[in-house]
Amino acid sequence: MQTFDIKGFRASFLDAIADPFYAPERDCFRYFPDGLLIVEHGKVKELGNYADLSAKYVEVPITNYSDRLIVSGFIDTHIHFPQTEMIAAYGEQLLEWLSTYTFPTERKFSDRNYAQKISSIFLDELLQNGTTTALVFAAVFPQSVDAFFEEAQRRNLRMIAGKVLMDRNAPDFLTDTAESSYVETKQLIEKWHKCDRLLYAITPRFAITSTSEQLSNAGKLLAEFPDVYLHTHLSENIKEVETVAELFPDSKGYLDVYDRAGLVGERSVFAHGVQLTDAEFARLSETKAAIAFCPTSNMFLGSGLFKLEKAKSTETPVKVGLGTDVGAGTSFSMLRTASAAYQVAQLRSQKLSAFQALFLATLGGARALCLEDKLGNLEVGKEADFVVLNLRSTSIMALRNKPFDESNPLTLAEVSDQLFATLIMGDDRAITATYIMGEVAYSQ
Ligand code: GUN
Ligand code: ZN
Repeated sequence: MQTFDIKGFRASFLDAIADPFYAPERDCFRYFPDGLLIVEHGKVKELGNYADLSAKYVEVPITNYSDRLIVSGFIDTHIHFPQTEMIAAYGEQLLEWLSTYTFPTERKFSDRNYAQKISSIFLDELLQNGTTTALVFAAVFPQSVDAFFEEAQRRNLRMIAGKVLMDRNAPDFLTDTAESSYVETKQLIEKWHKCDRLLYAITPRFAITSTSEQLSNAGKLLAEFPDVYLHTHLSENIKEVETVAELFPDSKGYLDVYDRAGLVGERSVFAHGVQLTDAEFARLSETKAAIAFCPTSNMFLGSGLFKLEKAKSTETPVKVGLGTDVGAGTSFSMLRTASAAYQVAQLRSQKLSAFQALFLATLGGARALCLEDKLGNLEVGKEADFVVLNLRSTSIMALRNKPFDESNPLTLAEVSDQLFATLIMGDDRAITATYIMGEVAYSQ
C-alpha cells in the first residue's frame, strides 16, 4: 500500500500573523473561507484558497472539513500536570490552598508509575481541548519529569516542562536542596532538552519556597544552558507578595528577587503577575520576559484581575500568553480560559476581542515561549499542529451561529462574531479534532 507523507485539509482557516493589540485586526489575521492546507513530513507546505491550490495537488489525499474552522493549535503557557486530579479544590486562597490540597497531592508523584498514569490522562485532556503545546510544572521528583516527557515523546508533542525546585517552606517530603536541585535539573536538561520535540524549563516553584542559594543555582544553570526556559510564579496573591518582602528584605520587590538571581530574561515565563507594579511591568518589558495570564485560576483563588492593558501597552509592552493553570485553574479548555479573560477585561472596563483572544491562545503564546519560528500559526515551514473547531457544537451555539460551507462562506466579520460566541460558550465539545504534525491525535 502506498503511504502518503503529503496530505491536504480542506476547510475554513483563520490564523494570526501579527499582534492585534498593536495593529488593525484585518492586517493581523489570514482568513481563507474555503482553504486548502498542505502538510508534508509534518510541516506546513502551503496554505491558500482551495480554488487556487487544488489543481496543483490533485494526487494528494484531502480530508474535507466542511462547516469547520481550522486554527493553529492552542498553546497553554502555564499548567501543572500533577494537579490534574485536584482541580476545583474548595475554599482557599493561594497559600492555604497550597498547604491544604496541593502539597499532599504532589507527594504522590514520587511514584513513577503514578506519574506516568496521570501524565497520560493529562495529555489526553490537553488534546481533547485542542491544546497542542504547554509549558508544564512537574513535581519536585525527577521521576515525575521522566514520566511526563516519556508520555509526551510517545505522542510526538512539543512540550516544555521541568522539575519543581523547592528547598524551604514546604513539607519535608516535598523539598530538595540547593545542591540536589542543581544536580538533578542539570541531569534532566542533558537527558530531555531538545530530545525530539521536548524542551526543558528550570522551574523554581516561587520565591517563598526557594532560598537565595537555590535561586542563584537556578541562575547558574540558566547561564550554563542559555536555551532552556525559566518558569515560575510571580506576584499572584497579596499575602504571597508580603511574605516574599519579609523573606527577601534586601530586594526591591518580588521580580527583583528573581532578577538578582539572574532569572529574568527572554526565555523566562512568569505565571500570574496580578499584583505587579508599573516598575515591574517596565522591567519585564525591558528584559523581554513573558507573563502567563491565568484568568480562571486568578478568579478561582481570588487572586485578582490581571492588568492585561498594562502588559499590552505601547510604553512597556510585555509578551503575554494564556495559561489554564490547572489545578488552580478550573478548566483545561483554552476556550473557557479565553472566556474568563474576556470577563476579567470587562471587570476592568476593558475589551478583549475574539481575534485578540485567539492571538493570545496561539501566536501570542508561541511568542511568549520563543517558539514563533515553529508554532503559533500555519505559515509555511511551521509544525502542523492544528485544531478543527466546530462553531455549532451545542444546540444553543447552532442557533447562535449560522451554518457555513464552501458555497456559503462566512465574511471576516461573521467569523469574528461566531468565534467570539465560541470562545465565550465553547468547551471541549467544540473541538472536532486535534492534529499533531499533520496526524490526527484526537477526534470526537
Ligand atoms: N504559587 C506557587 N505554587 C503554585 C501553584 O501550584 N499554583 C498556583 N496557582 N500558584 C502557585
Ligand atoms: Zn501555577
